[in-house]
Amino acid sequence: MTNISTKYLGFELKSPIIASSSDFTSNIESIIELEKAGCGAVVLKSIFEEQILMEIDSLRMNNMFNTYTDNENYIAYYTQKHELDKYLQLISDAKKQVSIPIIASVHCTTGGNWTEYLPKIQQAGADAVELNIFILPSNVLSSAAEIEEQYMTIINNVLQKTSLPLAIKIHHYFTNLANTLVELSKKVDSLVLFNRFFNPDIDIETERVKSGGSFSSPDDNFLIQRWVGILRPHTQKGIAASGGIHNAESMIKNILAGADAIQIATILYRKNISVITEMNQGLKNWMNAKKYDTIAAFKGKLSYKNTPNPSLYERAQFMKYFSDFKE
Ligand SMILES: Cc1cc2nc3c(=O)[nH]c(=O)nc-3n(C[C@H](O)[C@H](O)[C@H](O)COP(=O)(O)O)c2cc1C
Repeated sequence: MTNISTKYLGFELKSPIIASSSDFTSNIESIIELEKAGCGAVVLKSIFEEQILMEIDSLRMNNMFNTYTDNENYIAYYTQKHELDKYLQLISDAKKQVSIPIIASVHCTTGGNWTEYLPKIQQAGADAVELNIFILPSNVLSSAAEIEEQYMTIINNVLQKTSLPLAIKIHHYFTNLANTLVELSKKVDSLVLFNRFFNPDIDIETERVKSGGSFSSPDDNFLIQRWVGILRPHTQKGIAASGGIHNAESMIKNILAGADAIQIATILYRKNISVITEMNQGLKNWMNAKKYDTIAAFKGKLSYKNTPNPSLYERAQFMKYFSDFKE
């Protein structure tokens, strides 16, 4: 009997497919559909640090005569009256109506006041938190060490505010990515490799910079496979692969590299929620053909440590590509 369940963030997911943070995870109707289609867990659409802080500020402005003695009080007041309580409502509705784990998501760049909101997320019933930490290292005056320290500060502050399992979704712009991934993995329960963001594009007609769009292509996944494969031997913590996973084949590759779970967004927009059922079936068919009964039987089989040719994870030069990679 083929069993496609997997352990992630301390939960037994019935499938390694997690619906990553997107519009599909922003409302209860589609969360129910995602579960019906066979999704293992959902990461809710992110609430943004700026959103929390800006709205708190506007509340302050509107309540000049109100003084808040501590952050928690004004967050508590705020969450009763304003947008943020809808997020908490979504968490508690989801917990009542589906049985798969509900992972709340916060997009953040600091470990500041917004973290006071985390206990509310926990009280609402979230099973875990995923932070989408996005600090674009574009400041020429910041050193790599300062930026890495910023990540640690965020994680430390968040860990003081919640006991929920913690995943962080990060980008790959680090000076020594392998070392940073290992150090970060020591602090959290899972790494989500990697986050995706709007890239700039230049319109040559209007001669303006515009947004380059947010959907992935399957080729984006090569980068993910490389770093999942390199990281796997160095951590027992969770690894979720995210980026360019559009079908069962790609899901299987990431698990072979060492991912515990995979996250999808773009393909839900490109196809629809039923793609999850299709991908689960494709995974089962492949496992049957290969005689694997469980995910654990092949997870990480082709990680850097286990593959007979680990140097392929590291080779990056075209000269080598042409001389060595021809089959
Ligand atoms: C329309 C859209 C909205 C997204 N919104 C969020 C978000 O609110 N928070 C977040 O962490 N990631 C967000 N993402 C990123 C996805 O969660 C995911 O990390 C990324 O798209 C890579 O996966 P994919 O290649 O399957 O799309 C969004 C992606 C898309 C396409």
